[in-house]
Amino acid sequence: MRMIDLIEKKQHDQELTEQEIKWMIKEYTADTIPDYQMSAMAMVIYFKGMTKAERSALTMAMVESGDQIDLSAISGVKVDKHSTGGVGDTTTLILAPLVASVGVPVAKMSGRGLGHTGGTIDKLEAIPGFHVEISKEQFVELVNENKVAVVGQSGNLTPADKKLYALRDVTSTVESIPLIASSIMSKKIASGADAIVLDVKTGAGAFMKSVDQARELAEAMVEIGNAVGRNTMAVISDMSQPLGNAIGNGLEVKEAIETLKGNGPKDLTELCLVLGSQMAYLGGAGNSLEEARALLEENLHNGKALEAFKVFVKSQGGDETVADHMDEVLPTAEFTAEVTAEKAGVVSTIVADQVGLAAMRLGAGRETKESEIDLAAGVYLNKKVGDAVEMGESLATLYSNKPIDESTKQTITESMKISETAEPLTLVYDIIK
Ligand code: URA
Ligand code: CA
Repeated sequence: MRMIDLIEKKQHDQELTEQEIKWMIKEYTADTIPDYQMSAMAMVIYFKGMTKAERSALTMAMVESGDQIDLSAISGVKVDKHSTGGVGDTTTLILAPLVASVGVPVAKMSGRGLGHTGGTIDKLEAIPGFHVEISKEQFVELVNENKVAVVGQSGNLTPADKKLYALRDVTSTVESIPLIASSIMSKKIASGADAIVLDVKTGAGAFMKSVDQARELAEAMVEIGNAVGRNTMAVISDMSQPLGNAIGNGLEVKEAIETLKGNGPKDLTELCLVLGSQMAYLGGAGNSLEEARALLEENLHNGKALEAFKVFVKSQGGDETVADHMDEVLPTAEFTAEVTAEKAGVVSTIVADQVGLAAMRLGAGRETKESEIDLAAGVYLNKKVGDAVEMGESLATLYSNKPIDESTKQTITESMKISETAEPLTLVYDIIK
């Protein structure tokens, strides 16, 4: 086979076979197809798209380019959740113990964050003692015993995707639905998930700015998952304002605990119930999404979700008293500042990515891979879209272990618009299954 022939085929709207796609990905991973030919292929895919069969073949070829995690020693249907990323997205911290509390195994492989806030592991490390350096055997044992464990990413997962994603980044071919969908799905499948729930975000703080784009991506990923034998569902959710009130690692742990006690912010609680009911349903709890949701709601109010959180935290070395003594156990910030309303009215917009940027500057996220995170740093929104405010009332509280400058406060002021009225925001735009 020759790469030039495959590029030409795509130029002429001909479908690539599974065999051709497998060959291309194998040779590209082995460095025998040069970047310039792969760039041309990425560009032709960017303009011509890919058929359903091509998308599935590309996904599986990338899965097979490296290690695949074998979770077969864990009993039950292993359901994984993936979010396309947003600001103050505290859902994983809540969903892991919540879904485990109804008996569905959550074997979570997570990473550290780059950008506005930390990844799930950074957040969990705000709990003193919590660590993810556990062996594969311990991980399996913990999930079998407690139904939940979180481990750091290890091994050589989807090297083809790593290489191709980096190439797309410098050739302006990232924003192609088939390439994004196969990139994300290949990582989830290689991580061993039997079933996958996707939270595709839309709005200012998201990768997909419009609902239509988000829907197209969600549909593409659900199709791939189902075509390759992984039950997959997706939610299209709002990320125009941050999710919940807390943005920042320690602050989000606190928010997660409140939510597990049944006292969480309305939007965060609702999204966790929507995503959680898909996870629980795909994992075999409940005969319908409604039944699964009822089980989860019950456990948010009878203490079982919180109990699952405590067991999970303790099993990975963390101080589980955090659940009852958050303020004593979680890291505290030396500096705080209030951002107050310059006039009375109703909060009509909170630009998520601006708030994320401010949280990062306060120390909650990494500007480069090497930066250290301040686990106490972040933004707590005292008001959300639709809330009434008086002039001078606090809109947000900022936390940091370094002095807070005026420009960061100014970023928050500018990101929170106060008007006479506010359009209500939609939280869940659609469910794709
Ligand atoms: N995230 C991914 O993992 N891959 C993409 O291609 C885009 C976003
Ligand atoms: Ca949050």
